[in-house]
Amino acid sequence: MDLSSKIRSAFEAAFPGEDFSFVRVVPATDPKFGDYQCNDALKIAKKFSMKPRDAAAKVAENIDSSIKVEIAGPGFLNLTVGTEWLSGELKRIYDDKNLAVPQTGEGKKIVIDYSSPNAAKQMHIGHIRSTVIGNAIDRIFRALGYDVIADNHLGDWGTQFGILIMGYRQCLSEEERENLTVANLEKCYVLSAAKAKEDETWKDSCRAELVKLQQGDEANLSLWKRFIDISIAEFDRMYAQLGVKFDTYRGESYYNEMMPAVVEKLLASDLAKESEGALVVDLSEEKLAVAIVRKSDGGYNYTTSDLACVESRVKDYAPERIIYVTDDRQQLHFKQFFSIAAKLGHNVKLVHVPFGLMSYQGKAISTREGNLIKLDDLLSEAVKRSYDIVKDRGGDENLAKAIGFGAVKYADLSHDPATAIDFNWDKALALEGNSGPYLQYAYARVQSLLAKAQDFDCEATEILPETPSEKRLALQLLEFPGAVVRAAEAYKPSVLADYLFQTAQLYSSFYQNSPVLKSDEPLRSRRLKLCLLFGRVLKRGLELLGIETPERI
Ligand code: ARG
Repeated sequence: MDLSSKIRSAFEAAFPGEDFSFVRVVPATDPKFGDYQCNDALKIAKKFSMKPRDAAAKVAENIDSSIKVEIAGPGFLNLTVGTEWLSGELKRIYDDKNLAVPQTGEGKKIVIDYSSPNAAKQMHIGHIRSTVIGNAIDRIFRALGYDVIADNHLGDWGTQFGILIMGYRQCLSEEERENLTVANLEKCYVLSAAKAKEDETWKDSCRAELVKLQQGDEANLSLWKRFIDISIAEFDRMYAQLGVKFDTYRGESYYNEMMPAVVEKLLASDLAKESEGALVVDLSEEKLAVAIVRKSDGGYNYTTSDLACVESRVKDYAPERIIYVTDDRQQLHFKQFFSIAAKLGHNVKLVHVPFGLMSYQGKAISTREGNLIKLDDLLSEAVKRSYDIVKDRGGDENLAKAIGFGAVKYADLSHDPATAIDFNWDKALALEGNSGPYLQYAYARVQSLLAKAQDFDCEATEILPETPSEKRLALQLLEFPGAVVRAAEAYKPSVLADYLFQTAQLYSSFYQNSPVLKSDEPLRSRRLKLCLLFGRVLKRGLELLGIETPERI
């Protein structure tokens, strides 16, 4: 049993019948206070009209002797663990293929809606956050045993297709039409949209092409299909580089025909009403702006589409929750549509994970300023720069990719998704400090150490941490399952990134203080096994962030 659960049961034994799911143990801020501390006795004292110190004492009575307890200050529990307990817990992690990450998600399904770029446009650096954060959340939930459906909700339907069809027919050369690329689609869209702005006839033609498409006109439908296929092929090229895989690509078009029924339902349950020709849902009780579900021209919108989408996902997968990863400018949309979904009685937990904007080398990313960096270019640049770093050490293109992509991902994932971030090459690729390459390097170093110690009998060895730095590292390794759980609960891969960085730092101070290969047995083997466990935890942790761990750098 991990320490938090152990202390939680002591709370339960001291105060039977209460819910103590909030009880948590955290590593002590200073080793002189012990190994861990728990401050939760303070929270319950009031409820039982006790002095906090007395409440803490009552909990302490119920903790067995493998843990030394001291009550400090107003009622903190300072905990010092015995070597035997520690060694048993390390073995538990070592022996478990999941490194003791609890399989709490077993038998539960969730849908994660992420990346979701708009078709017929090249992915740019702004798309990296949804893709990378979404993919890490996806991996973290799978690690907890959840059955995850990764769904790429492509923007593949809407008015832009009328403009595109006109642009394709009128603004591209025959050769461009034959060898159609996403770049050309983007180009003809821009040209056609500009014309529509100044030329009414052009605008009307775009609209007419859109109507034809919506009514199932064969020529337009097959053009649309071609635009989508080309877009997906291009996106897949990015995803393959980033190690991102989706289970399904149900874009907005998939839900198109379900929208009228959604509106019918809203009308039938008195949730929608007419307003200035449009159909709206009043959300004043939720203190939100009204949501339009059918425009005055009869068209549906993003809200209607997402409502149809929820209904379809609930029907097809019966997930316990759906997680949406998008930029924070969509917060109102998600609040509105989650409220309406709740009113409609959909039995599913809906979660929006909003992320802040990303700037590039200190500059805002904007189409108008012309510094909209393509994702493709960012990734190539990452490989180029990494190659410059590794080529002198005999590294090849594959190593450069692992490091470059790892650097790009970690630069994003090491920040709380909710914050705005700036992407900076020097910081992302730094070999020292909180970066992807630093962690990959720490992993490669420990692997090379283990390779040198060929004669060590790992299975027969027990890890018995004795020195303070050994013990500190060992305690930190026990926190791995907790870090994964907390990252999932908060929908923040940064929680796991922070944990991994701290762990690597503790490893490095352990390594500086404790000779490994030059120690005598049994110390040498014990330390080697601690190193091995550190390597496993680091590898698995980085894997959950979607970052590769080359064996050699
Ligand atoms: N395509 C949208 C965008 O580019 C994101 C879609 C998010 N998912 C959803 N179900 N609304 O911003």
